[in-house]
Amino acid sequence: MTKPTLTASPSYPASRLRRTRTTGWSRAMVRENILTPADLIWPLFITEGKGVEEPVASLPGVSRWSVDNIVKRAQEARDAGIPCVALFPNTPTDKRSENGAEASNPDNLMCRAIRAIKDACGNDIGILTDVALDPYTSHGQDGLIDADGYVLNDETVAALVDQAVTQAEAGADIIAPSDMMDGRIGTIRRALEMGEHHNVQIMAYAAKYASAFYGPFRDAVGSRGLLKGDKKSYQMDPANSDEALREVAMDIAEGADSVMVKPGLPYLDIIRRVKDNFAVPVFAYQVSGEYAMIEAAVAAGAADRDAMVLETLTSFKRAGCSGVLTYHALHAARLLNG
Ligand code: PBG
Repeated sequence: MTKPTLTASPSYPASRLRRTRTTGWSRAMVRENILTPADLIWPLFITEGKGVEEPVASLPGVSRWSVDNIVKRAQEARDAGIPCVALFPNTPTDKRSENGAEASNPDNLMCRAIRAIKDACGNDIGILTDVALDPYTSHGQDGLIDADGYVLNDETVAALVDQAVTQAEAGADIIAPSDMMDGRIGTIRRALEMGEHHNVQIMAYAAKYASAFYGPFRDAVGSRGLLKGDKKSYQMDPANSDEALREVAMDIAEGADSVMVKPGLPYLDIIRRVKDNFAVPVFAYQVSGEYAMIEAAVAAGAADRDAMVLETLTSFKRAGCSGVLTYHALHAARLLNG
């Protein structure tokens, strides 16, 4: 065997990138992105009743909870270091209507859950509330429709303003419009200011795509069977990327405090572009279909849940996110807490 010499030779790399990967302490020292429980927002589904847990078949491990049980989930989240929960109601069928008026009923499921969590947890955890009409309409669309089923923009925005102000009055900390109507962020912001809700934040679902990954969520809020047609006339075309930047620019100009990209993993490129172009907090929603995909892989023996959950969530941090909405939030936070 010939001895290596110090003379320059193409067989000796300028550096060996494996050197810093050799040991755990060294990998920890050079790690660029760290996931913590503070990066997680936990979506929760609310249902009527007391002491109720209703498992959602297409989201194994996820349930709808009655208001008393939602409070317990919020306390668990707080105790695990999760800063915020996101609430979604499964409105009883008899309260769904063509115009979704239940959305701005101050005693609806959403408002009762907000008040109950605030009573129990005060400001130790944030409450993010979804603004859109789909859990309240008899047709499952996010807005008001005309005779042809087309979702009307400005009429819908007026309804969303009522819904947002109702939620703020109940104690919501972050209003999160997920409807994709034009102009809703500015109109909601003005209404919040007029109502003296100066410190209620808006997280805009700014770049929300017309995605095939929302199916299990629609089961959870009970809108899947009701929905006629699709949401392509308001949610974004998955083929577009420049358009996402225009959406984000408009929402920021209208007063959004933070923006969201949704779904998550198939849209990491959008997150990176948004983060590179705008100095605002960016959040991702790892949506129901993504969660279901991971759980299906685990159930098939094709993947290790804990490793997959932490790897996917860390990838959102790497792409530029300040945080992630994920149904795995409590599980991930507990893993991170050790
Ligand atoms: C509707 C809404 C949807 C989700 C959040 N808000 C579904 C849709 O647009 O049809 C999806 C979340 C998920 O799939 O986890 N306003």
